[in-house]
Amino acid sequence: MKISGIGSSLPKKVVTNEMLSQILDTSDEWITERTGIKERRVLSSEYVLDLAVDAAQKALADANMDAKDLDYIICANVVNEYVTPALSCIILEKIGARCPCFDLNGACVGFIYACDIAEAYYKIGKVKNVLVVCAEAPAHMLDWHDRTCAVLFGAGAGAAVLTPGDNIIKTRFTGSPGWDRLYEMHDLQWCPYDEKGTTNLPLVMHGQDVFKFATSTCVSDLKALFEETGIKPDEIDTYFIHQANLRIIRYIQTMLRQPAEKFPTNIQKYGNTSSASLPILLDEMKREGKVHDGDMLAFSAFGAGLVSGAMLMKW
Ligand code: COA
Repeated sequence: MKISGIGSSLPKKVVTNEMLSQILDTSDEWITERTGIKERRVLSSEYVLDLAVDAAQKALADANMDAKDLDYIICANVVNEYVTPALSCIILEKIGARCPCFDLNGACVGFIYACDIAEAYYKIGKVKNVLVVCAEAPAHMLDWHDRTCAVLFGAGAGAAVLTPGDNIIKTRFTGSPGWDRLYEMHDLQWCPYDEKGTTNLPLVMHGQDVFKFATSTCVSDLKALFEETGIKPDEIDTYFIHQANLRIIRYIQTMLRQPAEKFPTNIQKYGNTSSASLPILLDEMKREGKVHDGDMLAFSAFGAGLVSGAMLMKW
């Protein structure tokens, strides 16, 4: 398939590092130095759903496509205000589509998973036009008193319309044990939300272990794809790396021996928006005229699971 339309949506409310340092024992200096993040967006008057619908409508407009022409909607989402129905069902109704739809929880790898599923369905003749929506608000899972996690995440949504084409070159995914070592979700209890939709069992992360997992898996995924396709790292025009930490991105860039200019970032403005991170960045780059027809793009993401995914694509 190919990406024919792209869109993104972010909450209005900006939370700066200075604002966080008023309520947490942290500082702009620490957060900037360790993560690259300067500010993030958080939900205030909006819901995750509003961002998802806005991004979806922008992607459809960019593709010049009517929602009724969609054959499938795949929504990547970890947590939203509803347990059921799936977010994709509500998006479907709001945008006026009439097609099968489902949600997938692929953590930060959700965008690449969704593109891969769309491509697989296309190859067996099931679909032609697929809407992928990644809508996330990791802050729902945070304890805002925990400085080690609260500074890292932000909310946002990105969407892409995929249509027939041969632009997705190859994908690769991994799954590894160790989720409970790196991500403690406390006991596996049902119903972790209170009436406001915030969790009572916040995410606890072992940052250094995640850092090591992220850097090693991202480099090995991309190197494996290069080996399988014969494409060389130098031939990639732009590397879209999951926006989790600027130091992670810089480390990966160094390991691949590529110039920093090939690794665009917007983590400074939005923090880690989980699966939405890659389509938001792609949308910004496209609107700024920084992706061109025929460009070779590499995508890579890693996250809770532990899972990772990578994709090579010609624009
Ligand atoms: N402000 C100030 N100090 C903080 C802090 C904050 N927000 N968060 C942690 N600290 C403190 C720690 O308590 C620790 O203090 P101590 O030395 O007195 O014990 C110190 O800073 C160093 O903590 P450490 O965890 O070693 O820092 P780090 O350099 O590994 O950076 C992360 C922490 C979380 C930024 C980094 O590990 C990281 O980005 N990991 C990957 C996270 C990620 O990407 N997750 C999502 C994957 S999808």
